Amino acid sequence: MVIVETVLALRKIVGRARIENKKVALVATMGNLHEGHIALIDVAKQHADFVVATIFVNPIQFGPSEDLEKYPRTPDADQAKLKEAGCDLLFLPDVAEMYPEGFEAQPIVSVPRVSEGLCGAARPGHFNGMATIVNKMFNVVQPDIAVFGEKDYQQLAVIRSMVRNLNIPIEIFGAPTVRAPDGLALSSRNGYLNDQERAAAPILYQCLKDVALSLQRGSLDVEQLLDEQCKRITSSGFQLEYLEIRNAHDLSLTSETSGNLVILVAARLGKTRLIDNVVVSAGEL
Ligand code: PAF
Repeated sequence: MVIVETVLALRKIVGRARIENKKVALVATMGNLHEGHIALIDVAKQHADFVVATIFVNPIQFGPSEDLEKYPRTPDADQAKLKEAGCDLLFLPDVAEMYPEGFEAQPIVSVPRVSEGLCGAARPGHFNGMATIVNKMFNVVQPDIAVFGEKDYQQLAVIRSMVRNLNIPIEIFGAPTVRAPDGLALSSRNGYLNDQERAAAPILYQCLKDVALSLQRGSLDVEQLLDEQCKRITSSGFQLEYLEIRNAHDLSLTSETSGNLVILVAARLGKTRLIDNVVVSAGEL
């Protein structure tokens, strides 16, 4: 695996791969890699011949009171994992490489509708910052395909909408959420949890599964369903941000209790913000 820190060096190497007619995949990350990220590399390898991973903790997608400074940085372990997974090229830019004229000079990509509500309401500016860096990485690497995790469901929906509406010629793949044996969705932020919080954390997924099962069985009383699970989440020590059922395709609000729906949750446990989701085909049982 080759490691480069500049756009120029990256373009030379990706250019060579393209001359060899290789299909190029991008896996963009913020590092502190776990099995969920490695699953993205696996999907990329299934669909492309040359896999580029990026590690960049993007300042403009963090709010002023968020964890930018303490976001876990584990470069040596990350490089070993990517090499082992068969990644071809790692792009490790610093902030000056990605924002050479400073944040104030940076054009911002804003994706309407799908980035509103849910995490967009709780983290103002987050999706603008995320869409902007993903767009920049697309322009730097110019991949044929890019792979993102379904754990960040709204992020994936924002990226898909950006690609469609800005006519970006890149095929987007979603990769299923990887979970710990007790159901907790893998996330770099899980490392912030203390033992007691870690023991309580899988309750979020259990609640999502319970809502999903009721919807599959054709439950129509959505309000009561969500109300019960909200109480369960808060009485387990979480501060609930949202628990919502949305249209799985475009995240629009829906009162439908049939078709493809997604149940999404965000909650804080101590200082750690956790998100998760489950997609369900309602009324199928
Ligand atoms: O999901 C992430 O790790 C980040 O939001 C991404 C897509 C790498 C952009 O910084």
